[in-house]
Amino acid sequence: MIAEIHEGLEGVVASATRLSLVDGAAGRLILAGYAVEDIAPRASFEEMAHLFWTGRLPDAQELKALTATLASRRSLPSGTLVLMREAARQQTPVMDALRMASSTLSLGRNEDAQHDAYTLVAAFPGIIGGYWRLKNGQEPMKVNENLSHGEYFLHQIFGSEIGPERARGLETYMNTVCDHGFNASTFTARVIASTHSDLVSAITGAVGALKGPLHGGAPGPALDMVFEIGKPERAESMIREKVRRGERLMGFGHRVYKVRDPRADVLAAAAEKFYTTEGDRELYKLALDVEKAALKVLAEEKPGRPLNTNVEFYTALLLHGVGLPTELFTPAFAAGRVLGWSAHCLEQLREGRLIRPDSMYQGPTGLKFKN
Ligand code: SDX
Repeated sequence: MIAEIHEGLEGVVASATRLSLVDGAAGRLILAGYAVEDIAPRASFEEMAHLFWTGRLPDAQELKALTATLASRRSLPSGTLVLMREAARQQTPVMDALRMASSTLSLGRNEDAQHDAYTLVAAFPGIIGGYWRLKNGQEPMKVNENLSHGEYFLHQIFGSEIGPERARGLETYMNTVCDHGFNASTFTARVIASTHSDLVSAITGAVGALKGPLHGGAPGPALDMVFEIGKPERAESMIREKVRRGERLMGFGHRVYKVRDPRADVLAAAAEKFYTTEGDRELYKLALDVEKAALKVLAEEKPGRPLNTNVEFYTALLLHGVGLPTELFTPAFAAGRVLGWSAHCLEQLREGRLIRPDSMYQGPTGLKFKN
């Protein structure tokens, strides 16, 4: 029977899930029952965590308990800090440091999948913020267990007290990107969990997948492109040159969405709040002009391919507005997505089968080893 190859598993439904619905035709994203535009700008990250781990939003008591559980797991194993210091000495890129540090969370583990999920979600902001400070010659901040998840993340990066509006902006971002069906990094985590391996192994693999520019590595270059263009009147010609050179415009196109990514509008609305001064408003307007020019050029140069704005374009604007340096854009993506990765691993461990697709051998057969 000649099997049909689905390159990149495009259009293949690998399993059922109750965690998110990505409707590529309608441009709709449901997160564990809630439309992304409804829940992401208003829920706390702790509420999202309870929703993804239990299937429902917490009551006040449950929220207080989960918040305390996560806060109590913010401290990192001493071995993690040793690794971070060595990586900083070598100026290792942040995503590589995050991948190596996340694997050290096996130190002192007690082999319980849900506890691993708590630890990984709680630890990522401290790893990312602490490493960023070490990489820039500063000491990591002491763990503060009284801050919300978003405030804690920003405190670990900047050290100073963080205004509630920046923490809200960051949590809106992390809620928006926390899960998205079987994207490459989530599927990576599920494949590892499907062998009944542990969550630290699965999420270390997922970090490696997210780093790639075709996946989570896009927001930094997307903002770089806006700065490179610099003026609205240069946008169309510079973008057309890029596309004709075969370059991919970071922040555009998607394997599943055939229309505009619904997360773009959620993030654009959250980003706009941070562009109030004259100069900032100019940058925000430039970004809108660049997006318009990109969509026009892609429609003309790649006719018949539905290449629309994806989540990364406005991720760049929002995280820049919150004050993150571009090198922390993809790590911030990981700090949000680690919730979805952990929930998918728990779902796979509860209900899934070993993931093992077929392949079509196209090499020679019948060769004889020299006698
Ligand atoms: C994320 O899967 C998820 O859900 C991912 C994600 C999540 O939440 O986890 O949504 C997050 O990864 C968003 C995508 C971030 N990546 C980028 O913004 C990078 C730029 N985009 C692309 O490289 C591309 O659009 C992909 C990788 C996202 C999707 O690529 P596909 O579906 O594999 O499509 P393809 O590579 O086969 O391209 C089809 C055609 C090609 O042209 P031809 O060679 O046929 O002439 O479209 C072109 C591509 O060159 N094309 C682009 C383009 N994206 C596709 N051309 C210019 N710019 C682009 N961005």
